[in-house]
Amino acid sequence: MHRTLTLSGLRLSLMIATLSAHAAGLTSEHSAFGTTSDGAPIEKYTLRNSHGMQASIITWGGVLQSLMVPDKNGKADDVVLGFDDIQGYQANPTVYFGATIGRFGNRIAGGKFSLDGKQYQVPTNDGPNSLHGGSQGFDKRVWKAEASKEKGWVGVTLTYTSPDGEMGFPGTLETHVTYSLNEKNELRIQYRATTDKPTVLNLTNHSYFNLAGAGSGDVLKQVATVYASTYTPVNSTLIPTGELAPVAGTPMDFLHPTAFGKNIHADHPQLKFAEPKQGGFDFNWVLDTKGNVGKLAAEVRDPQSGRHLQLYTTEPGVQLYTGNFLDGTVKGKAGKVYPHWGAFTLETQHYPDAPNQPNFLSTRLDPGKVYTQTTLFKFSNK
Ligand code: GLA
Repeated sequence: MHRTLTLSGLRLSLMIATLSAHAAGLTSEHSAFGTTSDGAPIEKYTLRNSHGMQASIITWGGVLQSLMVPDKNGKADDVVLGFDDIQGYQANPTVYFGATIGRFGNRIAGGKFSLDGKQYQVPTNDGPNSLHGGSQGFDKRVWKAEASKEKGWVGVTLTYTSPDGEMGFPGTLETHVTYSLNEKNELRIQYRATTDKPTVLNLTNHSYFNLAGAGSGDVLKQVATVYASTYTPVNSTLIPTGELAPVAGTPMDFLHPTAFGKNIHADHPQLKFAEPKQGGFDFNWVLDTKGNVGKLAAEVRDPQSGRHLQLYTTEPGVQLYTGNFLDGTVKGKAGKVYPHWGAFTLETQHYPDAPNQPNFLSTRLDPGKVYTQTTLFKFSNK
């Protein structure tokens, strides 16, 4: 009797110890990340779990600066492209490594749109079009940060108030972005925004993933599945034609696991628009999940390291871009060079140029309404 009691007592205390170790496994800390050229101090928040996953977020651009993920042998590597210091981010304004994109992810044709009969012109910074919110988008703003707490998650909430008319967009936009990590190796990004005038917005995250490790070469052997039966074909300046075209019979068919490299060189006009010389993907896939965050939207596996990324999102589309503009000249973290096709992005979004496309889901936000988005990147390593 005495022995049984002691044993169960022991078992109980062991359980308590494990539980508290579990809770203690989720930690966050913050430190200084240098100063911008204007003298603004930048902070870095680091979230950790007890399985070796670690995410660092900086207050410059709401950037996911590093993401350590263990491989099949338990060895953690940084799987996102980025820079070691704030100067790297400021010196490379057009790569958007890891950035929070706003007010409008992807392109707006001619930088023009109208709302309630009023015309707006936002900066054109990508040939004739506006890209990622214009030349000084959310990726180039200093965000306020606060550690966030929720049962089972450790996080940081970033806040930015974009004044009425900033980059030509109407309305004061109050934006919150929360990055959180849990013990299931899920990195979640939640967005929330409100406006005081009718406006348009399309927020996303522009992380460049390489599951074999950032700077370890190209991603052509990594295998993607995108649960999307259609995509939005584009013209030569990457503005959607307005059509939702079937992926079947095109290199855009990722309905079954397909290495990025398999069809990237295909002689297909769309691939030539994305990357005229060597081909590349840079399109918006129309997700069959239709905004159901409980359903798998896309996944990518790296056969070598065993790392596997699964994407879940409330957004109806995803821009899958294969780093076609990288050319080995950008030197990233630890002096590593990022080659052509050195990463892929999964930018969850509403469809590009939605403000000018009557057939696309609306990106309008009115006062009194709340914009929300949840996107989750789940990692495993078998
Ligand atoms: C998005 C765009 C690409 C490119 C990158 C950033 O993915 O669709 O065309 O602009 O951002 O370089």
